[in-house]
Amino acid sequence: MLIGIPREPQTLVAATPDTVGKLIKLGYDVAVQTGAGDQANHPDSQYEAAGARIVGDDVWSSADIITTLDTPTAAQLAAMAPQATLISRLAPGRNDDLVQDLASKNLTAMAMDTVPRISRAQAMDVLSSQANVGGYRAVIEAANAFGRLFTGQVTAAGKVPPATVYVIGTGVAGLAAIGTANSMGAVVKATDLRPETAEQVESMGAEFVAIPTAAEKSDDGYAKEMTQDQAAAAAKLYAEQAALADIVITTANIPGRKSPVLLTAENVAAMKPGSVIVDMAAANGGNCELTVPGEVTTTDNGVTIIGYTDLAGRLPAQSSQLYGQNIVNLFKLLTPGKDGVPVLNMDDEIIRGITVTQASTTGGAADILWPPPPVKVSAAPAPAPAAAAAPVAEEEPKGSGLWWKVLAGLLGVALVLASPLSVTTNYMILMLAIVVGFYVITAVTHSLHTPLMSETNAISGIILVGAVLQVGSSNVAIAVLAFIAIVIASINIFGGFAVTRRMLAMFQGGN
Ligand code: NAI
Repeated sequence: MLIGIPREPQTLVAATPDTVGKLIKLGYDVAVQTGAGDQANHPDSQYEAAGARIVGDDVWSSADIITTLDTPTAAQLAAMAPQATLISRLAPGRNDDLVQDLASKNLTAMAMDTVPRISRAQAMDVLSSQANVGGYRAVIEAANAFGRLFTGQVTAAGKVPPATVYVIGTGVAGLAAIGTANSMGAVVKATDLRPETAEQVESMGAEFVAIPTAAEKSDDGYAKEMTQDQAAAAAKLYAEQAALADIVITTANIPGRKSPVLLTAENVAAMKPGSVIVDMAAANGGNCELTVPGEVTTTDNGVTIIGYTDLAGRLPAQSSQLYGQNIVNLFKLLTPGKDGVPVLNMDDEIIRGITVTQASTTGGAADILWPPPPVKVSAAPAPAPAAAAAPVAEEEPKGSGLWWKVLAGLLGVALVLASPLSVTTNYMILMLAIVVGFYVITAVTHSLHTPLMSETNAISGIILVGAVLQVGSSNVAIAVLAFIAIVIASINIFGGFAVTRRMLAMFQGGN
């Protein structure tokens, strides 16, 4: 099948020479519209060298599959052949008319911006890959507009304090902004509606400033709308922190909704002259009341507000490479036979989640499959009772050996008890082991159960050594117990390796 890569009305392109090569390896032919990669520093000759054909406007009518960054124009859609496939960011939740149009043209449409936020889908998540670059670029833009150093310095001429950066919304873009600002020497604080992001914020070197009212934990990696109490407490906090900061970067976003306004004109008026706001949510209404999408404006009190909506596009080579790799990862999923023939397996939650329309092979209109059934994921540690029953993405695979561990542990204890030490000493060791074990295991959060498993594998290793030493005992009971311990501990250790392999394969699946 032929994949078409059209020239975009922006700096980015949906495939680079590198990703074209990978698509060809999956059995596809690739046609690139002339000049498509020019702004990302990829001339036609590089695409040709990678094995693509260079074509003109006919890319739209000749390709079986078109991949673009954003929704094509009506004329481009009209040029596509019936039953062709469009893979692009389509925002189907906000574009009913587009969905109807795609169906009436009998096209299969896959929305890259609706990839579910589950571990397996990360490799295809274009919102994340672009927000990551965008968050980095937001700090660079802020540093450019801010008339001072980011890092603090002590010089012979005096002390220079570090810049203070406040990030609101610590999803992908916010965390990238925190990392960048921190590495440039700024003092960084951040707030998010989802309290579970505090750990990530702190691990990136910033201080988490919590909204002082309880917020619900997210069960899908995205925020829910705030209650009135939360909104009032948050508004007060944002106003206070913005007035203290030199730079405010806002990334607050709730999928399918207009971005919440977090900084009012009054809040901006209270900020220091020379401070900078980068409103990353500008394209979706903006988090600051005064943001002008796509523009840089300066208020009467000297606050610069940057409303660029193309932050990722300002680093076109890498953003295109990341987007192109997301597309390659999707094609790997779609092409199990590596034969250039995509298979729409609707039992796969990623494929089902992004398929907006599916073309009819007998003519007429395509089936509308939007919205997809919800996908539940474990972005946060889930509440205890329900979580125990519900299978979640990060959980240990079933049959991962908990019972083997318990059995191996009991055998280890039996061996200790059967050893020549005095009975009292053995009971003391046993009691101590139970107390320490209880506190260690109950203090480990759900998300760290995998490393805990590795730890218990190490313990099984010790049991194995102990059992090998005891197996030659003249006491038959000890010898039998030691033999059983060797078998069970070995199953535990090798089973542990097998489970780890399976989990690693889950992560590597998209690469
Ligand atoms: P995300 O969904 O991963 O993160 C958004 C974060 O905002 C979430 O952690 C959420 O809990 C938080 N949030 C929502 N409402 C909040 C509130 N009222 N107070 C505090 N936190 C709140 O989204 P991602 O991928 O990080 O993108 C963030 C925004 O950046 C999006 O609007 C996206 O469209 C935009 N973006 C803009 C670019 C540009 O060129 N301007 C480039 C890339 C992304």
